[in-house]
Amino acid sequence: MIQYLVFGGNGQLGRALTGVWQGRGAEFRALTRAEADISDREAVRQVLAKWRPKVVVNAAAYTRVDQAETDVDDAWRVNALGAQNVALACQEHGVDLVHISTDYVFAGNNIGRGYSEEDQTGPASVYGRSKLAGERLVAHGCRRSIIIRTAWLYGDGPNFVRSIVRLARRQSQLTVVDDQWGCPTSAADLAGAVDRLSGLGAYGLYHFVNDGQVSWYGFARAIVAAMGLPAEVRPISSDELLRPAPRPAWSVLDTRLYRMVSGCRPRPWRVALDEYIAEGLAEVNHDS
Ligand SMILES: NC(=O)c1ccc[n+]([C@@H]2O[C@H](COP(=O)([O-])OP(=O)(O)OC[C@H]3O[C@@H](n4cnc5c(N)ncnc54)[C@H](OP(=O)(O)O)[C@@H]3O)[C@@H](O)[C@H]2O)c1
Repeated sequence: MIQYLVFGGNGQLGRALTGVWQGRGAEFRALTRAEADISDREAVRQVLAKWRPKVVVNAAAYTRVDQAETDVDDAWRVNALGAQNVALACQEHGVDLVHISTDYVFAGNNIGRGYSEEDQTGPASVYGRSKLAGERLVAHGCRRSIIIRTAWLYGDGPNFVRSIVRLARRQSQLTVVDDQWGCPTSAADLAGAVDRLSGLGAYGLYHFVNDGQVSWYGFARAIVAAMGLPAEVRPISSDELLRPAPRPAWSVLDTRLYRMVSGCRPRPWRVALDEYIAEGLAEVNHDS
């Protein structure tokens, strides 16, 4: 019997959780897709029967937002069916489940006001729709579930921060969209929130992001400045950057419920970013 089991153990959140649990000597198992494909119901049941965890975290997801527009079945197989498989297995074994969802379940027209857990959803992309379906299947499939919506994650894996650093080292000028606003969030901070809420057994739906909001352009400028790189960052509109999947113009999440239940306030995104850059520099150098 172990304390924690995480699906998607090789992803950004999976790795961050490993760090949290290792740090305090908890017994856990982080499973890669090769070890347990969540779209395989029987495989999921078998790993739960084998490891008998107290808490399962589903950090596995189909996260390629643009590719999902044409890879619809695969996105739904992982984000909806896979989420349901994990939820049903947790229900069967009487295990607590923490499932992760996204700000892209919102349409993005709540401009100026953070989205709360009660706000109406309206995903515009295949990724967002498949994640919303996953939320619903988890909530119906497992009574002891915590669903956490998060956004703009960066940790140990491919992400926006690393892309900007790589580009800013190669190019003197970058263009980044300035009409989509959200909340950059450290995977390490999200892992802390997952750990905190699961420890409280606080079942329900929550929003967790780092504090404050910024556009992708503002985020890119902050990254370049924190790295001390000379590249110029220029703002463009989404219309100038044609991408297959539409993104919400405003997907700022309100974390009031998380703050009340956990008693903790998420760190400002700039503080978390500075720490990530200070600690992750070796990895970033290696990437580029
Ligand atoms: N990244 C973001 O900006 C962001 C924003 C909002 C919400 N989220 C949500 O936050 C959660 C964690 O995201 P992340 O950034 O850590 O994602 P990530 O780095 O892309 O990791 C996802 C992991 O899931 C694994 N996976 C994919 N399909 C699987 C399957 N069928 N069975 C088992 N594992 C599978 C992947 O394995 P492979 O490495 O083998 O592909 C990968 O290790 C996800 O639910 C995501 O939707 C992310």
